Amino acid sequence: MIPGYAITEYPNTREIYAKMSRLLQLAPYKIKKDKMQQYLKYFEQKCARSKNLIQKAKKYIPGGVQHNLAFNYPFPLVITKAEGPYLYDIDGNQYIDFLQAGGPTLLGSNYAPVREKVIEVINECGPVTGLFHEYELKLAKEINKHMPAVEMFRMLGSGTESDMAVVRIARLATKKKKIIKLGGAYHGWSDQFVYGIHLPGTGRFEAHGIPSSYSKHTQEVFPNDIHALERQLRLNKLNGGTAAVILEPVGPESGTRPIDFEYNKQARELCDKYDALLIFDEVVTAFRLGMGGAQGYFKVKPDLTVFGKIVAGGYPGAGGVGGRRDLISYLAAGVESGKKRAYVGGTLSANPLSTAAGYYAIKEIERTDAAVKAGRAGDFLTKGLQKLIEKYELPFVAYNQGSICHLETVGTMFLKLNYLKIFKILKEIKKRKSAMEEFGAAYMAEGMVTLAGSRLYTSMADTPEILKDALSRFDRVFQNVYCDNSS
Ligand SMILES: Cc1ncc(COP(=O)(O)O)c(C=O)c1O
Repeated sequence: MIPGYAITEYPNTREIYAKMSRLLQLAPYKIKKDKMQQYLKYFEQKCARSKNLIQKAKKYIPGGVQHNLAFNYPFPLVITKAEGPYLYDIDGNQYIDFLQAGGPTLLGSNYAPVREKVIEVINECGPVTGLFHEYELKLAKEINKHMPAVEMFRMLGSGTESDMAVVRIARLATKKKKIIKLGGAYHGWSDQFVYGIHLPGTGRFEAHGIPSSYSKHTQEVFPNDIHALERQLRLNKLNGGTAAVILEPVGPESGTRPIDFEYNKQARELCDKYDALLIFDEVVTAFRLGMGGAQGYFKVKPDLTVFGKIVAGGYPGAGGVGGRRDLISYLAAGVESGKKRAYVGGTLSANPLSTAAGYYAIKEIERTDAAVKAGRAGDFLTKGLQKLIEKYELPFVAYNQGSICHLETVGTMFLKLNYLKIFKILKEIKKRKSAMEEFGAAYMAEGMVTLAGSRLYTSMADTPEILKDALSRFDRVFQNVYCDNSS
């Protein structure tokens, strides 16, 4: 255990991969038909206003919903109230919130002390002026205080924009083009990064509408294989070099494919050896793993860090880039001619609302020790899930990296792509995805919101009582599953 950090014990990645491969050897587990019917009835009977509104929304909004994280099965719910550990839908149903909007609400939803400060700022100067506000400095200084590697910081509108900006800086600074990412990792949806997302080895699978030239210099290597990273760096050395290696320090997709504790350090050494920059995408992990972020936890100094989510305290405008002074200087704003810069912008970037929200959220996380508390909640939840898995002798896999918890019941994201058997694999993905959707819907009908039915973020607001309650809800789902050997 590292004092001040959310992770009590770093997960044994070998064990997780072994369990995952066992899970994948079995036919997918599903929820018993009669129980699933009951869960679907819940939506029909208790969520009528959501259903009605989404029906109307479908006419004006593609798919009837704006967020990739919104659960679509059997239909998305309309949320009207958020408070601490709970969300409430338009029909008045209460849910334990393990989605946490994808990660930013570490203090709990709609946390009053931050909200009150934000309201004060808005009352005073509105959400935007286009000119400097003192909170910009306060936020940058606060981040630097906790993450010394972030010597300078520029706030941007989102994680996606910030991931674009670091690539631009890396290419300008190194005069090289190639960017290596880990297969399956999500670094936002820019043209160059819709490459190898979700499943390793998928390359341009999702790159519809993106000309191939945009991903020409993006490369993916298999996660947690340090030799594969070195091979790629070596190969690139013969071919113009590598501008940067970009990683989520807990592994792709918030550690869905966890990487060994040593991996980050080894990646740092390889970057130094091959003269490439190391970028940590800390959109999820900054402040969630502890005040020093993943870089503090792993004790590895990246050249550049990408921020999002918590950096604006759960408020809009959640993005930013920090790192070495010489590198971040390429983002110098203002009207200054003659200097080469990595061009970024944004009418609403670094506005008083986002900067004040980020500043007060970080201060509150420090004051309340929120990252550690949320991490303990993650331990409690995960241990409870592991006990349930044992109790019902299921092949499911539960592990956590502090407040980032993973519950794999079908293992879709772990399928290995084999282009020779591509149709078989695609069929398997479809089958497992639909089982995953059913699990997500079952959790929802049991009063819990999860991320895609397989990831759960805990927050400071998740007390042992709430988590015990959640575990008894999971128990009800787990006692009603079976292995579907039918196809
Ligand atoms: C690791 C990581 N990087 C980048 C992003 C993109 O951030 P945003 O959604 O703010 O564009 C996300 C979003 O979930 C993320 O998890």
